[in-house]
Amino acid sequence: MKLHIADSYERASGLAAAEVCRLVQAQPEAVLCFAAGDTPRLAYSLIVQKAREEQIDFSRITFIGLDEWVGIPPENEGSCHYFLQENLIRPLGLMPAQVHLFDALSRDLSAETERLNQAVAHAGGLDLILVGIGMNGHIGFNEPGIPFDSYAHVVELEAFTQEVGQKYFRTQTVLNQGITLGLRHLTEAKQAILIANGLKKAEIVRQAIEGPVSPDVPASVMRLHPGGLFLIEREAASALHSSPA
Ligand code: F6R
Repeated sequence: MKLHIADSYERASGLAAAEVCRLVQAQPEAVLCFAAGDTPRLAYSLIVQKAREEQIDFSRITFIGLDEWVGIPPENEGSCHYFLQENLIRPLGLMPAQVHLFDALSRDLSAETERLNQAVAHAGGLDLILVGIGMNGHIGFNEPGIPFDSYAHVVELEAFTQEVGQKYFRTQTVLNQGITLGLRHLTEAKQAILIANGLKKAEIVRQAIEGPVSPDVPASVMRLHPGGLFLIEREAASALHSSPA
């Protein structure tokens, strides 16, 4: 595990974007998995900008969406699908055949988890996974208590996650279940990057980095990944005992 404390959100986002672009330049057929959410928004815009400026070819990557709110259609602005479509898939000009996202409207969610497990496996595993951290320490929708060795699954979301998730939606929305890749996808990925920013994440970042490695704080799984990079903006790092921030 590596910890990088960045001076600003811009700097953290720039480093994440540079790492994704570096990988795609070195390995145009890379298999990339991305989270939705507020945290990676700037990194995604910088990836798109860099791809255009430096003419980086994303046409051969495999794109995997990390998770989705069950029952939320892709055209809903609060869905992960919509977010990834608007911020990465469309601006990068990716083709449907190279994109794998959960169908959260599927009548057979268990088949849907298997479909994404297979998509990752057939692509040869993830080369890079870029994630955020929830206020309760979740990664994707791997809520506290989910075993580290899980692959894709459907999950009952904590009340806290349902409440925090309202920020993505225009109106009050039922968010009681999620469908997500598992933490084993993260530990098996060749590279894993977790970005966090803002004072509100400081305490959970401290627990993930300095507390016990435990499913109680799913993001602590990053410490089991030899190349796992915590990319933490200064304020989000401010509760770390090892941090001068
Ligand atoms: C979303 C996802 C979630 C978020 C987390 C942080 O696809 O995987 O785990 O990364 O809830 O969300 P933000 O970045 O909005 O604070």
